[in-house]
Amino acid sequence: MKLIDNFNRIHNYVRISLIDKCNLNCIYCNPSNTFTKYESNKSILSYEELYRLIQILLRDLEIKKIRFTGGEPLIRKNVIKLFEMISSLQNKYNFEVGITTNGTQLLDKIDLLHQYGIHLLNISLDTLNKTKFIAITGKDYFDETVSSIQRAVATGYKSVKVNMVVIKNINDDELNDFIEFFKSYPITLRFIEYMPFSGNQWNDSKFLSWEKMKYEIEKKYSLREIESDGKVSKDFVVDNTNLKVGFISSISNHFCDSCSRLRITASGQIKNCLFSKPSEVGLKSLLADDSISDETIVKFIQNSLQSKWQKHPGADELSQLQQNNMMSIGG
Ligand code: 5AD
Repeated sequence: MKLIDNFNRIHNYVRISLIDKCNLNCIYCNPSNTFTKYESNKSILSYEELYRLIQILLRDLEIKKIRFTGGEPLIRKNVIKLFEMISSLQNKYNFEVGITTNGTQLLDKIDLLHQYGIHLLNISLDTLNKTKFIAITGKDYFDETVSSIQRAVATGYKSVKVNMVVIKNINDDELNDFIEFFKSYPITLRFIEYMPFSGNQWNDSKFLSWEKMKYEIEKKYSLREIESDGKVSKDFVVDNTNLKVGFISSISNHFCDSCSRLRITASGQIKNCLFSKPSEVGLKSLLADDSISDETIVKFIQNSLQSKWQKHPGADELSQLQQNNMMSIGG
C-alpha cells in the first residue's frame, strides 16, 4: 500500500540519516566544533534495525528510493556492511539507493558501494579554492573531495551530483568557475539556496535566490531548460556540454506540492518535513522488539505522516525556529 498524506501526496522516497555527526564543520550546517571521534552509540538505529525498517519500507509501503544521509553517513563504523545487507534486497524489490556525502571518506569505498548497487551519489563541494574550503568546512579535505567526484564519474555511477550551498560574499563569485571546472563531466551541479537552520546565522544579506544565480551564469553560459528530476530542482543543460545544472529553490520558491519525501533521523525519529520537528516517539523501540509486528510499524509510519503540513513556513519564520538542525538529518 502506498504512503499518502492528507494532501494526497504519494511518498515513495525515504531519506535515512545514519549518524548525526560529521567530520566537517561547515559554516552553514554544523558551525560549532563539536565533532570528536565517533564512537558507536546505542541510541542510533543498529544495522539490523535499519534492515528491518528498509524491508518494511520496500515491501509494505512501496518506497522506490532510499537515500542515506548524515551528519556524514560514511563516518559510521563498518558502514559498508549495511550497504552489503541492503544489496541483498536489490533483486527482490525495485528501488534506487543513493548517498549524500561530503566526499571526504569516499574515495576508497567508491567501487564497493557501486558493486552493492548504490547508483546515486550526491557530493557536497562549496568552493574550488582550497583555502576557502578550509574556511568553510574547518578541515583540509579539498583534494579528497574533488578526487572522489572524479573517481565516481570514472566508476560509472548512474547519477553524480555536486551540491554547492551558495552564500553571498562567501562563494557566490564561483558559480561560473564551477561550470568551467566541471563542463566536461556528465554530472549535475546543484546550486542550493542557503536555508536557515538553528545556529547557522542565516540572514537575508547572505541569501542569493536561484533566479539571481541563474542570471549570473547566463552572463557567460547559455542554459537550456530540461524536465526536472522529481521537481525538487529546476534543471538545465549547459549548451554544448554534458553538464547539467540544477537550482534548489527551497526558500524563494518552495516545492512542497510535489513533496514525496519522508525523513528518518539516525535515532529513528520521523521527520515528515525537512523543517518539521522530529517525532517524539521514534521507531527504535519498535524495530528492536521482535514481538512488535511489521504491521504496527507500518501504521506508526502512516500515522506520522498525518501531521505533515501543506507547505513549510517562509525563510524569516524558519530562521526564528530553533528546532531544526541540519546535522540531525543531512538535507
Ligand atoms: N542550506 C542549504 N543547504 C544545506 N545543506 C546543509 N546545510 C544547508 C543549508 N543551511 C546541504 C549540504 C549538503 C546537503 C546534505 O545539505 O550542502 O549537500
